[in-house]
Amino acid sequence: MPTTPPTEPLLRFRRWFHAARRAGIELPEAMALATADHAGRPAVRFVLLKEADARGFVFFTDGRSRKGRELRENPRAAAVFYWHESGKQVRVEGRIEEVTAAEADAYWETRPRGSRLAASVSTQSATLHSRARLIAAWRGLDRQLGKGAIPRPSAWTGYRIVPSAIEFWRRGEARLHDRVLYVRRRGGWKRTLVQP
Ligand SMILES: Cc1cc2nc3c(=O)[nH]c(=O)nc-3n(C[C@H](O)[C@H](O)[C@H](O)COP(=O)(O)O)c2cc1C
Repeated sequence: MPTTPPTEPLLRFRRWFHAARRAGIELPEAMALATADHAGRPAVRFVLLKEADARGFVFFTDGRSRKGRELRENPRAAAVFYWHESGKQVRVEGRIEEVTAAEADAYWETRPRGSRLAASVSTQSATLHSRARLIAAWRGLDRQLGKGAIPRPSAWTGYRIVPSAIEFWRRGEARLHDRVLYVRRRGGWKRTLVQP
């Protein structure tokens, strides 16, 4: 089976992603993210892809959330994109590494002010006892900080899926879909075709 250049699956991902965007698909960056706890019990939810480069696929979240806890217990994840109008699916699997504080700071600063305030007053995935109190805390912090800087909560961070496998699926006639699987090998990727 051919070994491909290190950039091949990423370049293919980029082409598909930009084609999805050009096709007018909303939120092409939405990906279902699967994690598992220490016992291997799976959980899945959507997050937004914020970066995809040769190092991997990055999303941001509250490290105190369920996913954050699970990623500490079991630092592996899988993600899947589905672009219906393009008839395409991309699956990614790999180990997880946390982004640097500098990377998290840089992305934090690009977020709308309201979102930064929300992330500052919410402990994602913890029980909410009063929505009214949460909103009051959000308003209170808004008043308190005025136009000043909103510090990034230390637990708010990003994770990178460092892919060990990426599969590209294209819808085919009569369910004869086209599947190309890249598995990481030293210095490159092994490419195989997979039956539909
Ligand atoms: C389209 C979409 C995009 C989302 N993007 C994010 C995201 O980038 N980061 C995040 O923490 N939560 C995001 N969420 C919320 C998550 O799906 C989830 O509710 C939250 O992260 C808590 O998950 P957890 O309890 O499994 O940790 C998104 C939800 C949707 C529907």
